[in-house]
Amino acid sequence: MLLNLHKILNKQISNIMKKFKLISLMMLVASSLMFIQCTSDPIAGPQGLAGIDGQDGSNGTNGTNGVDGTASCIACHNTSHRDAIQTSYDLSGHAAGGAVAYAGSRDSCSRCHSNEGYINYITGKPAVAISSPTPVSCTTCHNKHSTFDFATDGNDFALRNMAPVTLTLTDNYVLDYGDSSNNCVSCHQPRSMAPVDDGTGLYLQANQRFYPHYGGQSTMLEGIQGSFIAGGTTAYPGVGTAKHRTGASCTTCHMGTSSDGLTGSHTFKASFTASVCTTCHTTTVPTEVTGLASNMAILKLKLEDLGLIDPVTGATIVQTTTIPFKTAQALWNYETVYKDGSNGVHNPKYATALISNAVEALDTP
Ligand code: HEC
Ligand code: HEC
Ligand code: HEC
Ligand code: HEC
Ligand code: HEC
Ligand code: HEC
Repeated sequence: MLLNLHKILNKQISNIMKKFKLISLMMLVASSLMFIQCTSDPIAGPQGLAGIDGQDGSNGTNGTNGVDGTASCIACHNTSHRDAIQTSYDLSGHAAGGAVAYAGSRDSCSRCHSNEGYINYITGKPAVAISSPTPVSCTTCHNKHSTFDFATDGNDFALRNMAPVTLTLTDNYVLDYGDSSNNCVSCHQPRSMAPVDDGTGLYLQANQRFYPHYGGQSTMLEGIQGSFIAGGTTAYPGVGTAKHRTGASCTTCHMGTSSDGLTGSHTFKASFTASVCTTCHTTTVPTEVTGLASNMAILKLKLEDLGLIDPVTGATIVQTTTIPFKTAQALWNYETVYKDGSNGVHNPKYATALISNAVEALDTP
């Protein structure tokens, strides 16, 4: 039977060969052979049902055109885009550089307070005095891309630092936001440690600047560097657990888009209408931490009454005799929350615990 079929086929082939090109022929041969192998009966079966209208497999969509070699570059590297960022940056306290004249040149301050000092620091050079310090500018934070393969490696925004930051004070605590916020941490970290109990329960507060400096935002967000008052009844949240830490970052809250250009982008000013807020605060975004402002006011009055804070200048007053350690802690916590500058927003639960327990400690001598 197979032999017969082959004879028939050969005849068919010689006829068809006259009409078709070689390629069609090969297809026919192939399909004939398949037919032979699959069925013992050469009689063809009934034709399959026609596809139902509208339910036939749809055509594949056309592939998107390949990205132009430089299109992704031009998105950032064009004059109007850059001008808009410059306009935005002009509103930033970084550009104004209010403390550059005061702190920009000193070897212990310049790493955060001037362009020259920061570049010196971030490129691993020892701290030196800067003779003509200038404010932080574009090339303070930006330099060159470490990769052009943005699709694989992510965009580094040509930042000098996007790597995790080891806090200077602690030597071993590493902060990593996993995004460009690590750039902020290299400057926005504290300069002084919380007071340490020497076991006497007393403390000589002899530091004119008894606070973590003005730049403790990263540690506030993390929930470290506050002073835990023993016996405080408000629980301190776990380190690194704040939702504003795990679900947001410096840049998502401070560098978003804004309708009026007065916040976000390179103004670096946080916005209460940043799109990131509404991912969690789906109905309304709260503008303050419940009860914190009134508690801060109460604490401030108490600290003034104790002669620890100057009611006029707000400066911490150097003491000549010891004070209870927990009073020193209360002062430290007040300064920590106050100088963070976010009115507790960075870490609502942590700020609330630091201040509530401080008020409580001063109420129960
Ligand atoms: C997300 C925005 C962004 C994209 C996309 C981008 N860049 Fe950049 N690039 C920057 C920033 C920010 C700087 C810092 C310099 C500046 O603009 O002040 C920079 C700096 C540079 C520099 C060094 C500084 C200079 O101006 O000579 C080069 C070169 C460069 N980019 C090339 C590229 C190329 C090539 C691409 C595309 C493959 C690209 N960039 C894509 C943001 C971007
Ligand atoms: C080179 C160090 C440095 C880096 C990096 C840095 N800052 Fe600052 N920042 C400062 C200093 C110093 C000031 C105070 C400026 C002054 O008054 O002289 C400041 C002030 C600010 C202020 C208050 C001033 C204002 O305009 O409202 C905000 C908000 C701020 N920074 C946010 C950020 C964020 C967010 C980042 C990261 C994207 C960042 N900073 C990165 C050093 C830095
Ligand atoms: C680790 C980085 C860092 C170092 C080092 C540092 N600062 Fe600052 N400083 C900051 C940041 C960040 C701010 C801005 C915080 C803000 O605006 O909320 C700031 C703010 C200030 C302010 C208030 C400025 C204002 O406009 O309100 C003064 C004053 C100041 N620093 C002085 C100094 C002096 C003096 C030194 C050295 C003895 C010094 N700083 C060292 C990071 C630093
Ligand atoms: C204090 C640090 C700092 C300074 C100063 C700074 N930038 Fe940036 N810039 C950043 C960070 C951080 C990002 C990444 C923001 C993000 O993750 O969305 C960024 C992103 C960018 C981008 C890409 C994102 C976008 O909006 O297109 C451009 C372009 C850029 N910067 C240009 C500039 C220019 C121009 C200046 C000076 C006028 C400047 N930057 C000054 C920190 C800085
Ligand atoms: C959940 C959003 C959020 C995150 C995350 C966040 N901030 Fe803020 N930040 C705010 C808000 C809101 C304020 C208060 C702004 C106001 O009252 O206008 C603020 C205030 C500040 C201020 C004081 C501004 C001033 O005018 O004195 C600084 C400096 C600052 N943030 C830096 C940072 C840095 C650095 C980080 C990351 C370590 C960070 N912030 C993370 C929302 C955020
Ligand atoms: C990842 C989720 C998330 C994002 C994003 C977020 N928040 Fe929150 N926010 C919370 C949670 C949860 C709380 C409750 C306190 C806590 O758990 O720390 C809170 C508390 C607050 C509080 C204190 C409210 C009170 O009654 O005490 C304020 C104010 C606040 N957020 C403002 C903001 C602003 C402004 C933004 C955007 C710039 C923002 N939040 C972004 C989750 C978020």
